Amino acid sequence: MWHANNAGEYDNDGYHLRGKVTTNAQGFYSIETIKPGKYLNGAQYRPSHIHFKITPPNFPTVTTQLYFAGDTSIEQDAAASITTGPYDATHRIIELTDDGTGVLEGTWDIAVSGEGIVGSSDIHLDKGIIYAANPNPFTKELAINFGVFQASEVSLLVFDMQGREVATLERQHRTPEKYNATWIPDAKLPNGYYFIALKINAIQVHYLKVKFERQASPYGQ
Ligand SMILES: [Fe+2]
Repeated sequence: MWHANNAGEYDNDGYHLRGKVTTNAQGFYSIETIKPGKYLNGAQYRPSHIHFKITPPNFPTVTTQLYFAGDTSIEQDAAASITTGPYDATHRIIELTDDGTGVLEGTWDIAVSGEGIVGSSDIHLDKGIIYAANPNPFTKELAINFGVFQASEVSLLVFDMQGREVATLERQHRTPEKYNATWIPDAKLPNGYYFIALKINAIQVHYLKVKFERQASPYGQ
């Protein structure tokens, strides 16, 4: 991925603000960077964007761009304003939310078809879904609501940012129904981000990112 700096400029000498990541075994990825500035393209400013080249195993590379909701330059932009067909940008415009400290966070789920088309990753949500994980962030206990839509082997797992499975909340045969689960992290688990993942048979159909912020004990550990 690569993007412009605050002033809307690309660094073509030192190649700052360019990077390459490999997802972990679950397909999770995470990047931390600045929000790119805008630059003029003819008479119009291009919306703030991040360029991506994505290469799924055994498929060709797709080159595409990510935009941010609320950007006033999207409507006039030749690429970002497309809402139908193979270049539909709808699923490539993501919401950013302030985490309370001025840091903007957003999620872009990437699903690439064999034709190299980037779209929504909701393709398995007919099998099962995680409705909610609350509260988020949480300090002690996380309540998870999920639905199973077909009789199947269901796993509800927790992964850390490195893709290590740190907890198994559920692993059993389930009939179509709504279910609840609770995650109380092990005392040795560090604070930070984790992924709650729902697997239906062999397919990971959905995940939610949660933040664990253990309160320091007033009596020490
Ligand atoms: Fe660009």
